[in-house]
Amino acid sequence: MKILIVGSGGREHALAWRLKRSPRLSEMWVAGGNAGTGQLATTVAVSPEDVPAVVKLAKKLEADLVVVGPEQPLVDGLVGRLEEAGIAAFGPTQSAARIEASKSFARQVMWDAGVPGPEYRVFHEQSAAIDFLTKHASPVVIKADGLAAGKGVALCKDPEEAVLAVKGCMEDRIFGSAGDAIVVEEWLYGTEVSVFAFSDGETLSAPVAACDYKQVYDGDQGPNTGGMGSFAPPPFWDVNLAAEITHTILMPTVERMAELGCPYRGVLYAGIILTANGPRVLEFNCRFGDPETQVIMPLLESDPVDAMLACVEGSLSETPVCWGSRPHVGVVMVSGGYPGAYETGKEISGLDPGCGRARGGDLESDTLVFHAGTANADGGSGTRVVTSGGRVLTVVGSEDTIEEARAAAYRKVETIEFENARYRSDIGDLSVGSRGRI
Ligand code: GLY
Repeated sequence: MKILIVGSGGREHALAWRLKRSPRLSEMWVAGGNAGTGQLATTVAVSPEDVPAVVKLAKKLEADLVVVGPEQPLVDGLVGRLEEAGIAAFGPTQSAARIEASKSFARQVMWDAGVPGPEYRVFHEQSAAIDFLTKHASPVVIKADGLAAGKGVALCKDPEEAVLAVKGCMEDRIFGSAGDAIVVEEWLYGTEVSVFAFSDGETLSAPVAACDYKQVYDGDQGPNTGGMGSFAPPPFWDVNLAAEITHTILMPTVERMAELGCPYRGVLYAGIILTANGPRVLEFNCRFGDPETQVIMPLLESDPVDAMLACVEGSLSETPVCWGSRPHVGVVMVSGGYPGAYETGKEISGLDPGCGRARGGDLESDTLVFHAGTANADGGSGTRVVTSGGRVLTVVGSEDTIEEARAAAYRKVETIEFENARYRSDIGDLSVGSRGRI
């Protein structure tokens, strides 16, 4: 099976690492990629966001399967273009990817399907939004309707903050056309969890869960980032919660998408708050999460090629997907200054070949190092790796307990150096926020 992966982050390195272990894989390429994926697959300098160029590349390589990592090419219709070219692609079509591309579409789907979520209102006019908000004193969440690179969500404690957020979207247009409409939502309280399940449009796999850390500083302080760490599975995740989320959230959503004529095929990512009244959906995404993928791919016990092809072919009901339960903790190392301005080109020391596994390439290994913003400074031999982005590496520890997994991850982090490297010191500490309990 010849596979082309599209994307260049830690998520795509983790996907490449897991796919590489499939006996069905014969050849693998990565469009975009980084220094880490370059050690597992052939890197092709094609932008993951350039849909025509990716389709041309997949045709030239005669790829049997294209695995699309990030949301933007999914939202831009890459999967449909590949299907037209006769190439199997793992990920939702453009119409199904609206579940992430339009927050108002996603809320309508949930409303129609009876999926529990916050109270919400959609506004297309700034004046109507401000009129509504000035009459509602309770905390709200303001979301730009469209894709805003993870920055389009504002948590507003009072009407003044909410009005500023609305003006930022609709008057100052800080998110461009993504802010043409906004969704105002009730602020939900509880433990946040990311839940992922494979879907073939009708059938869902068993779900897997992870928790992530979005804010840049310890104790969930400071601005939001693309993700500073993650762990899986959460200690509160059990068969009852998995069944409740499948039956009240994931399955009704997949059924409604099929009714709307846009069956959802790929991985469905539900961001969920476990409130005192039960699980409530914060948002849906149309792809694997980052940095959650770095801690859930090591848990995938079934063949990833089988699972992905079953999504494409509609045969998930005959293809069981099993997840392990060994704790994994992933610490993201970032460039100093991130998520603001940062320098690149800093040499990274302490990296091992491959993913830096400590005990030679099996799932019992206690650390893995997944690359994101890294590049080869020596033309590809992998001997000199430098930083090329804000999020640089995800260092994953796995052990019998989450405390030991966390200790293993941090031991490895301390052996890796680059100028101005930063990381949170509390990833996997269950006392931070409410991640350890419901
Ligand atoms: N972990 C958040 C995201 O992938 O969107």
